[in-house]
Amino acid sequence: MLKDVTLFYSQFRDSFTTTGAIAPSSPLLGKAITHPLSQRPSRPVRVLEVGAGTGAFTRQILKHLRAGDQLDIYELNSRFCDYLRAHPPWQECALKGIFCRLHNADVRGVSTESRYDYIVCGLPFNNFEPEVVSEILSVLIERLSPEGVFSYFEYIFSHEFKSRFLKPSDRQRMIRVGAIVRAFIRKHQFGYRQVWLNLPPAKARYCRKAAQT
Ligand SMILES: C[S@@+](CC[C@H](N)C(=O)[O-])C[C@H]1O[C@@H](n2cnc3c(N)ncnc32)[C@H](O)[C@@H]1O
Repeated sequence: MLKDVTLFYSQFRDSFTTTGAIAPSSPLLGKAITHPLSQRPSRPVRVLEVGAGTGAFTRQILKHLRAGDQLDIYELNSRFCDYLRAHPPWQECALKGIFCRLHNADVRGVSTESRYDYIVCGLPFNNFEPEVVSEILSVLIERLSPEGVFSYFEYIFSHEFKSRFLKPSDRQRMIRVGAIVRAFIRKHQFGYRQVWLNLPPAKARYCRKAAQT
């Protein structure tokens, strides 16, 4: 759809820090990031999507949902929320008995009571302050159920590429973000998939609560 690409590009220019990408993710990245959900159990599951943008991952998530499942979507940007309400990928959910809610809010506000079997995250961590990355990763791993899977992606080479061309203060920020993300990966990651057909190419990472948490 041309509309979602145009909106995405306008938000890339107007809200660069939170949008963090020039175009919506490709269906192949959507498939890779929702791969754990394709192996879901037959019981009803709860899914949290973080940073839906124009719904590239939402459409892939919905392919795996069935009656009794629940999908909570957190999207900070009201322009993206307006777009999703106007073109809801979850249009047929009510008929199928799937409960979907869109929250126009920061994911750090997700209820402390909620636990999710799958968390699919599209946030551009490399654009954020280290404290924000740390806080969001803690919130998400905390909200994951004991057997749950948290998937997120990062652009291949983006960290190395960006840190070369940034001003020193931004380079320091990226180095600190890189350290936080690497420590998180060491503790929680159990797999990943590379997706070359995406702009830019990306790596979908799969994480779970560490044994000691
Ligand atoms: C890189 S885009 C990904 C969009 C979509 N998932 C895709 O892959 O095409 C990041 C999205 O995260 C949203 N976002 C950024 N910070 C957020 C936060 N703290 N809580 C919820 N959404 C956030 C942005 O508004 C944007 O829509």
